[in-house]
Amino acid sequence: MNDDTRTAIVTGGSRGIGAAIAKRLEGDGCTVRRPLREELDLSDVSAVRVWAESDDTVPDALVLNAGENIPTPLEEMTTEHWQRTLDVNLNSCFELIRVYGPRMAARGRGRIVAISSFLSFRGRVGRGPYSASKAALDALIRVAALEYGPSGVLANAVCPGFVMTDLTLQNNDEATLAHLASTTALRRLGTPEEVAELVVFLAGDRNTYVTGQTLVIDGGYTCQ
Ligand SMILES: NC(=O)c1ccc[n+]([C@@H]2O[C@H](COP(=O)([O-])OP(=O)(O)OC[C@H]3O[C@@H](n4cnc5c(N)ncnc54)[C@H](OP(=O)(O)O)[C@@H]3O)[C@@H](O)[C@H]2O)c1
Repeated sequence: MNDDTRTAIVTGGSRGIGAAIAKRLEGDGCTVRRPLREELDLSDVSAVRVWAESDDTVPDALVLNAGENIPTPLEEMTTEHWQRTLDVNLNSCFELIRVYGPRMAARGRGRIVAISSFLSFRGRVGRGPYSASKAALDALIRVAALEYGPSGVLANAVCPGFVMTDLTLQNNDEATLAHLASTTALRRLGTPEEVAELVVFLAGDRNTYVTGQTLVIDGGYTCQ
């Protein structure tokens, strides 16, 4: 175990980036709770709060990873679609932070890491609610860092570029994937494991002074 992260909650740990984070934490000897959709549907925000309040865990790390992104132009967007994306990507994070944040603060230590996106500060056609949810998530994390920082809880957002997961494969055809790779400084998409490496650092006790930040991990995609 490379640090003192002993228990963690990771949302969206069934696959993709969340599965890589959970695997990496478990490899470090951490006990990881990764509620699957059947146990915790993040689109049902009131159920998220009930779930968290009925759980007595005081996690060392809370990793808010789950997210959805169903590309749709604004003019075709339904109110329900807009609301659902905000519920899964943002409002559920608020509910989890407001339950677990005070518990970690009362214990005097903890780490919150939210998986945001480079689309929190860049636009892309069809990503209206996704971009809005991630921009607000970055803002929420800054406030959490300020409110819980005095009690030893550090909070950060990680903004991946394009990572090879089901989400990326679902939303981009082969030609687009090739174009994205060719316009990335490192000339390739990222892997879930590369994102997990940064997340595990931020979620652990080796991170003693990084808080309230949005850290971009995108192979240089947003350099230009
Ligand atoms: N991949 C990228 O290039 C990229 C780039 C920037 C940011 N991100 C962010 O990174 C995070 C992980 O993305 P990913 O690429 O690993 O996605 P993914 O492969 O689609 O996996 C998404 C995860 O979130 C869970 N999830 C989605 N909606 C849920 C809901 N309503 N309730 C409970 N769980 C739910 C999924 O559970 P199920 O297995 O049940 O569906 C799955 O575990 C997301 O927040 C995403 O926005 C990804």
